[in-house]
Amino acid sequence: MTKKVSDNSRRQFLGGVAATAGVAAASSFVPTKFAIAGKAPVKVGILLPYSGTYAMLGNSITNAMKMRLEQAGGMLGGRPIKYIGVDSEMSVPKAAPNTKKLIDKEKVDFLVGPVHSGIAAAMAKIVGKRKTPIMIVPNAGSNAVTGPLCAPNIFRCSFSNWQPAFPGGKLMADEGHKTAITISWKYGAGIQMMAAGTESFEANGGKVIKDIQVPFPKVEFQAFLSDIAALKPDAVFAFFSGGGAVKFVKDYAAAGLKENIPLYGPGFLTEGVSAAQGAAAEGIKTTLHYSADLDNAANQKFRTDYTKAYGKGPNVFSVQGFDTASLMLQAAAAVQGDMGATGDVITAMENAVFLDSPRGQWKMSKAHNPIQNIYLRQVQGGKQKLLGIAAEALEDPAKGCKLA
Ligand code: PHB
Repeated sequence: MTKKVSDNSRRQFLGGVAATAGVAAASSFVPTKFAIAGKAPVKVGILLPYSGTYAMLGNSITNAMKMRLEQAGGMLGGRPIKYIGVDSEMSVPKAAPNTKKLIDKEKVDFLVGPVHSGIAAAMAKIVGKRKTPIMIVPNAGSNAVTGPLCAPNIFRCSFSNWQPAFPGGKLMADEGHKTAITISWKYGAGIQMMAAGTESFEANGGKVIKDIQVPFPKVEFQAFLSDIAALKPDAVFAFFSGGGAVKFVKDYAAAGLKENIPLYGPGFLTEGVSAAQGAAAEGIKTTLHYSADLDNAANQKFRTDYTKAYGKGPNVFSVQGFDTASLMLQAAAAVQGDMGATGDVITAMENAVFLDSPRGQWKMSKAHNPIQNIYLRQVQGGKQKLLGIAAEALEDPAKGCKLA
């Protein structure tokens, strides 16, 4: 069980409602929109997975986001916060009803979610057609969300699927590999990451000889590992994450492949799970927009605070949750809590600066996606060791985004 940061926002919310109702009943005084805004809480809807293979991701994001908001006094633009959390269950069919419930029934100001690319696209199709709420994606990499589905009120604090995968393909070629097999879950994230890795591997002289797609979220890898053993590529490029990544990396080593065919991939393969993977993860090189040992003061403070609050270390997912909170804080402060001033909220978010980001400073692209370094890391002694920068200030191509 993860330890929760104490949450007194519910109490503050009830206090705010009672105070507003009292004023209305006692006189005919009609408070201005801004006076109401001064008392009522800012509503933060959260649609993340708290069960299944991505539960660790949902919890890591939520913990760090709440920690950051608590550190800022538990307020957004001078108003208390009310969280309305929903377990996405990683269900794409439930994405639309869950999103509509948070928007129409709960009337959230910020909509934070999701982890899963398929859910992200479903949410963006709904949110992008409206002026509000403001959606902040704290993980899901769906290229479309900051591509063809991009919108003024949709922002991402994580990555596009293209971003951490593209430098990984070049890395394999640079390390002398000529042939590779790609293997991932068969849905948006896996398909887009494998395409980006393949593109840069082949542009640098490599050849992908087979693309294996495993139904999501299945973890029966044996038959696929036999195929890899038979085809003997120089390298394997993989996307799995959370519980599925633990199983895949362990099965890969147990099948005797680790010593002969090096495993690469976007850093999700070992992120937040290298301890559970144990010896099977040793030596795996990945590319990602974070490394635990990044030498900056913000990262050191973040890691100390998070470990103190939750009794275990943070990971890239917590970093994304932390930065999501930073973005909300900057937006709400710019309008002094008047979330109805949507245009000003959006401008503040477009100009946001992430000085205290544990991943190092980054900024929003015109398509509302981070422009950020992609780091080369290797698991050594059960921990991520930073080897260098694989791509500096990498910006997603944002194909099809009209904002850009
Ligand atoms: C996604 O579905 O976009 C996704 C999920 C888990 C990750 C990365 C991307 O670790």
